[in-house]
Amino acid sequence: MTVTSFSEALRTRTRHDHDDSEGAAFMRDLMSGAGTREDYIALVAQHFFIYEALEQVARRLRDDPVAASFVTDKLTRLPALEADLEFLIGPSWREQVAPLPTTVDYVARIHEVADWPGGFVAHHYTRYLGDLSGGQIILRVMQKRFGFDTNGVGFYLFDEIADPAEFKNTYRAQLDAAGWDADERERVIEEVVRAYRYNTDLFNDLARAKQAAA
Ligand code: HEM
Repeated sequence: MTVTSFSEALRTRTRHDHDDSEGAAFMRDLMSGAGTREDYIALVAQHFFIYEALEQVARRLRDDPVAASFVTDKLTRLPALEADLEFLIGPSWREQVAPLPTTVDYVARIHEVADWPGGFVAHHYTRYLGDLSGGQIILRVMQKRFGFDTNGVGFYLFDEIADPAEFKNTYRAQLDAAGWDADERERVIEEVVRAYRYNTDLFNDLARAKQAAA
């Protein structure tokens, strides 16, 4: 009998939701060359609000017995996002960025799960493991397409993680060792589905905002 680990079940059960996010027209356009530098900047601005929330809650849960094994400064993205926005928009970037409706809901949900370590880990997993996976592909495409070196794409550069594949394996082992019972595992999987949905909806918001501005 093959025993499927929780991390494997999580990946398999959410693959479809992942592919919906990856396949959203806004993301597809960015990756295929139909998207513009302005589109990329609009996405970075939304990331700023999402990671501000994620990393605020991470600080709060630093000493939580479950969340603590996932929280590490090696992942912290907010300073890189601030530097990217300063480079991409200029020193007054803060007055020029605002969260889109899905980002407002996504951020509210991240704050809501601050009282539920499993829920926080679900959001942490969806973003950071994504950034270390597809994010590394996005990095190379954006560098090539828009001529970025490191400025403007610092968000995707994890200077303190030499081997993303190994980091992800350790992360998955920690998911398996989190001590969640079957019900809690189910709830975590559902929260990851929800997190993917926010990401897909955000791409749709970005596409709508672009259309409205055209
Ligand atoms: C152009 C867009 C994207 C591409 C090309 C892409 C590609 C990939 C690839 C190739 C993997 C497998 C890596 C591995 O097994 O080591 C992966 C995993 C992952 N991606 Fe994406 N992805 C994209 C968008 C997203 C988005 C928008 C999210 C969510 C915010 C996301 C979240 C994840 C997560 C959480 C994993 C890890 C799954 C696991 O191993 O448990 N991805 N992605």
